[in-house]
Amino acid sequence: MEDMSSRKMHLATILSNGFGGSPYAWLDPRVDPGDFTNIRALARYAQAAERGKLDFIFLGDFLAQSQRVEEQSPSQTLEPTVIAAALAMVTERIGMINVVSATFEEPYNIARVLKSLDVVSGGRMGWNAVTTSAPPAAANFGRSVIDRETRYALIEEVIRAVQALWGSWQEDALLADKPARRFTDLSKIAPVNFVGEFISTRGPLEVPPSRQGQPVMSHSGAGPHSHDLAGRHADVFITEVFTIDEARQHRAAVRDAARSAGRNPDDVKFMAGVQPTIADSHAEALKRRGRLVGPADLQNVRYLGQLIGLPLGPKDLDAPLRPEQLAVARAHPADGRSYRALEVAREGWTVRQVLHHAVIDYHPSPIGRPEAIADHMQEWFEAEAADGFWVSPDIFIDGMDTFVDDVVPILQERGLFRQEYEGQTLRDHLGIERQYGLRRTSARP
Ligand SMILES: Cc1cc2nc3c(=O)[nH]c(=O)nc-3n(C[C@H](O)[C@H](O)[C@H](O)COP(=O)(O)O)c2cc1C
Repeated sequence: MEDMSSRKMHLATILSNGFGGSPYAWLDPRVDPGDFTNIRALARYAQAAERGKLDFIFLGDFLAQSQRVEEQSPSQTLEPTVIAAALAMVTERIGMINVVSATFEEPYNIARVLKSLDVVSGGRMGWNAVTTSAPPAAANFGRSVIDRETRYALIEEVIRAVQALWGSWQEDALLADKPARRFTDLSKIAPVNFVGEFISTRGPLEVPPSRQGQPVMSHSGAGPHSHDLAGRHADVFITEVFTIDEARQHRAAVRDAARSAGRNPDDVKFMAGVQPTIADSHAEALKRRGRLVGPADLQNVRYLGQLIGLPLGPKDLDAPLRPEQLAVARAHPADGRSYRALEVAREGWTVRQVLHHAVIDYHPSPIGRPEAIADHMQEWFEAEAADGFWVSPDIFIDGMDTFVDDVVPILQERGLFRQEYEGQTLRDHLGIERQYGLRRTSARP
């Protein structure tokens, strides 16, 4: 076990588009709507995250149209490997973890693109291997969604094939010996001849080791298949969890899976999402949240009703819940968010304001002063609900700087987060072992 007093959290941010975590961020008067394709905007946010000494930037990839309604921006437009290559040139230390789907991409391509990025970035890349299950993504590849068993059997093979390819240029293959006229020792760049049930690849991959050897392994998902896969392969597990209890259960499942695979569970960093709205006061933060909702979100009032066991509709938005309603309200046990929703409703806010508290967002969304955000993260971290957080500021144009300049220093003062980068590579930031080629300890499923 790690020594609790010296345990530090890991921090990441998600640069999905040029605007922010909120699909309404583009409407902010200060935001240039052209930023959704402006790599310079992303570069500025990546540099801010690096100023905050964050471990890495996460770049998702949904492989399909992401915009749902006209008033919301797409959540992603530019292809993530292109973004990572550009960001590698304007940052020095921060890592990048890119999603690449193991369901729709070939292992040779995955291995080549990511190891190239790892070399170009000086050992700062990670691969977030996912099993993409969205029908619109499948349709873009002329396929239908395959069942979960098969997707997880396939990703297992793809990960092994990719890692075998990464190791196929051995670490001492490069000679660069001019007098001997030998660039490499070709006996050390050998085919892998990987033949699986679903995929095969010959190799070798003609990309030398990066500064950290090869990319860090990451995985995102939920449920037992995903936890087992992360236990076997992931250095970083990036997930969506709404409550401390839920996070602790999932983290324990991933750690158990790591132990079963013969690994040290501390080597899998469990990262929970946080979508903060930061302002000078709780009231200001609520106002800011209020600007980040549109008509589509008002449908959420019905969902809020289901969470707390009351038939709520748009007509209920502008009044607090009445005592007789609160008397019969009950948190829905199947959705961890319902407890927090009921707690906020009991504080006497209007129903609209309850929604502005972000009680049914995709992630826990602490709102208020920087201390409130830091308190949330500290509480989760000390409850061993997470090893770190992927932080999605609501509007990047000021939210990224506010997180980095106002929240990170509080975490540092409290001894919860590093003051400086201690190493050069993503592996260094995460404090995980070097791995080259296939993981030695990974037991077959
Ligand atoms: C936090 C998180 C991030 C994800 N990011 C992506 C992504 O960028 N691209 C993608 O295709 N799928 C992504 N997924 C979805 C997974 O690939 C998978 O389809 C989903 O977890 C359902 O898988 P299941 O069969 O295990 O339930 C993500 C899932 C989670 C939990």
